[in-house]
Amino acid sequence: MSFDFNSLVPAGSPPPAVRWAPPGKYNFTFGNNDPDGLDVDELMSAVDTALKREGRRLADYRLHMGPQGYKPLREFLVKKLKRDAGIECSADDILLTSGSLQGLDLVNGALLARGDTVICERDCYEGTINRYYRRGINVVGIPLDKGGMRMDALEDALAGLKAKGVRAKYIYTIATVQNPTATVLDLGRRKKLLELAEKYGVPIFEDDCYADLTWDGKRPPAIYAMSKSQNVIHIGSFSKTIAPALRVGFIVAPWSIMSHILPLKTDAGSGGLEQMMLAEYCEVHFADHVPKLRQRFKAKLDTLVAALNEQFGTAAEFDYPPGGIFLWVKLSENVDAMKLRDAALKSGVVINPGPEWSIDKDYSRSRIRLCFASPTHEEIREGIKLLAEVCRKEFGVPARSANVERARA
Ligand SMILES: Cc1ncc(COP(=O)(O)O)c(C=O)c1O
Repeated sequence: MSFDFNSLVPAGSPPPAVRWAPPGKYNFTFGNNDPDGLDVDELMSAVDTALKREGRRLADYRLHMGPQGYKPLREFLVKKLKRDAGIECSADDILLTSGSLQGLDLVNGALLARGDTVICERDCYEGTINRYYRRGINVVGIPLDKGGMRMDALEDALAGLKAKGVRAKYIYTIATVQNPTATVLDLGRRKKLLELAEKYGVPIFEDDCYADLTWDGKRPPAIYAMSKSQNVIHIGSFSKTIAPALRVGFIVAPWSIMSHILPLKTDAGSGGLEQMMLAEYCEVHFADHVPKLRQRFKAKLDTLVAALNEQFGTAAEFDYPPGGIFLWVKLSENVDAMKLRDAALKSGVVINPGPEWSIDKDYSRSRIRLCFASPTHEEIREGIKLLAEVCRKEFGVPARSANVERARA
């Protein structure tokens, strides 16, 4: 008999994991990248060059460069963030992290205590929402429309909280290619957001990991870049543009908060080899690689949209997203997305049910998130066909597929 650790696990710990099993064949979850879009040869030569030149740095926990990560990669980011997001910063304003998930943990660790309140978009990244639930944070979700977070609703929420004597710790926003709605907050709303943040004394936490993935390569300036009062924390990632398994993300923040974040990064630094490889690779290839990746993603999105139109017809509604790697789909009212997820899994189709990606469980009840970067075109077509069959069997919709009337099985 094995020792029972369960009784020793403190109350309030996350529920125990279930053993990993390979996902279904048709996996529309997890925000993975496109395996065929990776420049493996160039990454190999980048790691080779970096190791030959500076491999001995790996003997030092901090690569002889202090606690904020490999400096040439931070210097690449300084140039990139200026060019693409309008951010003026120095390498000293950047902390390299183990993915932007660690960025979320560090910022939350520095600012949040049980019982605190944060504001975020009503439909929001599951990893962010779960972190709030685990920390016992009150979350106020702001509705979105086609232009992203609604500023009138934000103003109402801020005023309502103020009337109750509550000052939110921050406004979290995925303003550029929002997860899961893929909306982009325009310049006017960004200005309004900053104005409201100033007025109510609430800082902004900008999560920008999809910002390089708009189809036309254009994006509004980062909110961080537009702030005049250093009240924005910005995080980003190489997961969506290069590869998530490298686990390299970053925080850009003024020293007044960075100085509270650094003592919480207790892992003695994120993987040095990945940072060295990325610095070498990105300096030469990033600017060419990303447009090619966007084309790959857009082609897959078009396959997904065609498959949904063919298999679901009017039973699936969505806005064509301006970029990113996921589609937020509204199914017919009577579809319970949680039940659909479970039923689809049995057929090897893996989807994200809306209620796991939203603060508002009723609003998101019939919605699903479909990631399209990682499956092949064929898997997308077959997976959506199967999903429609499962949905029809469970909920009677879509009644027609490929313009053929179907009977509920
Ligand atoms: C909005 C958002 N933030 C952060 C992350 C975490 O990304 P990573 O830790 O790989 O950088 C994700 C991943 O999907 C995301 O969608």
